[in-house]
Amino acid sequence: MNRQADKKRKLGVIIGGSGLIGGTLVHYFKTQTPDTIEARAPSSKKVSIRSEEDIYSYLLDVNPEFVVNAAIANLGSSSQLSLEVNYLGTLNLAKAAAALKIPYIHLTTAATLPAGSDIQEDQHLAVTANLNNYAKSKLMAEKTLEHLRQTVGLDYTSIRLAIVYGDHDHKIQGFHRLFFSVADQAMPFLFTRKRVVHSYTNSRKLPYFVHHILENREEFSGQTYNFVDKDPVELASLILGIKKYLRLKYPREIYVPYGMAKSGMRVLSVLLRGFAKMGLVAQMPQELMFLESFYQTQTLSTQRLQASSFVDPLPKETVFTRLPDLASYYLKRWREQNIITDSRYQVANGDEMDRDFCNNPQRLLEMIHESETSPMEESDRSSRTLSSS
Ligand SMILES: NC(=O)c1ccc[n+]([C@@H]2O[C@H](COP(=O)([O-])OP(=O)(O)OC[C@H]3O[C@@H](n4cnc5c(N)ncnc54)[C@H](OP(=O)(O)O)[C@@H]3O)[C@@H](O)[C@H]2O)c1
Repeated sequence: MNRQADKKRKLGVIIGGSGLIGGTLVHYFKTQTPDTIEARAPSSKKVSIRSEEDIYSYLLDVNPEFVVNAAIANLGSSSQLSLEVNYLGTLNLAKAAAALKIPYIHLTTAATLPAGSDIQEDQHLAVTANLNNYAKSKLMAEKTLEHLRQTVGLDYTSIRLAIVYGDHDHKIQGFHRLFFSVADQAMPFLFTRKRVVHSYTNSRKLPYFVHHILENREEFSGQTYNFVDKDPVELASLILGIKKYLRLKYPREIYVPYGMAKSGMRVLSVLLRGFAKMGLVAQMPQELMFLESFYQTQTLSTQRLQASSFVDPLPKETVFTRLPDLASYYLKRWREQNIITDSRYQVANGDEMDRDFCNNPQRLLEMIHESETSPMEESDRSSRTLSSS
């Protein structure tokens, strides 16, 4: 790239670039806009948004033309960490963006909204002490962004996501936790009610939206958008759809009532505390803090998004049409990490050597010894080097 082209490129900073959302954005800018937008994504070790100093010195040094905040503390983090990353971190970044007079794009969550159907962007929950740390810190961040717009002219857009599906989730969380529980056959029954529906966000579409709003600041500045698929999805149908697609036996179509699920969770939590005293460390999935929402409909209005100038680049894609790709991506990954215990994936997805490694190591030993004991020919060596490079 010559200097002139380099000058024309917009430089942006994505905080949280190693995460599901940030990683998807970084990948998009790297592959789709290499000539027009360059995105830098410092790790949290290099730039922690908990440190005002880190942020200012990094942004002053890089001098970006926009900043995206896709960072969050882990779902079950302490109040201190949630406060410092999700709330004060947002404040630090937004103040720096306002000082540099650059757009600040904020990712937020449906956890800041009440349950119900067709929830509009500004139907927030009230900020109260009894909200969980995640919802409270994200909600406070949303409110402070609007305050900064009014007081110091911050040019921000908040993008509110619901349950996100997509690949490149290096943790197992949210929708991918659900997928994992079904794939791992760890969900014997359905922990939901019939006809409970939710909104879903396709992570593949998000970078197009971020790109679009960066190019149309006048329209999108100072606004919040629910960024979700147009049609909500029934949780039970989705779970049963995954089960059917993977040809599994569980979960059975038996709906566990909320009271029973909640008591079960309490018993489990007591048991885990007991195990911890014996030195066995195990954790409940953090998503269980949202147990109540498995039993409550929450669908987000897409009216504002539909009325905007943004055009959905993948209008036919839904969480159901993405299942085959997601299954192939995650099952391979979980199998490689050896965290999925169902042996059928090992056999179904493994290559021949892998199958022998699992089921017939003696045969593999013999095969390797037979084929590898003769000295390697020069031609053989070069073809191997080529194929492995
Ligand atoms: N995933 C979902 O289902 C979902 C649903 C609704 C809304 N959202 C929203 O989407 C956004 C991104 O979520 P995600 O699922 O992509 O999160 P994620 O996969 O857990 O990634 C979190 C990112 O935050 C970074 N981070 C953590 N502490 C940091 C700090 N002190 N300074 C700088 N970076 C820090 C992490 O970097 P390191 O790895 O380097 O620590 C990581 O890159 C969040 O605003 C979240 O509320 C997500």
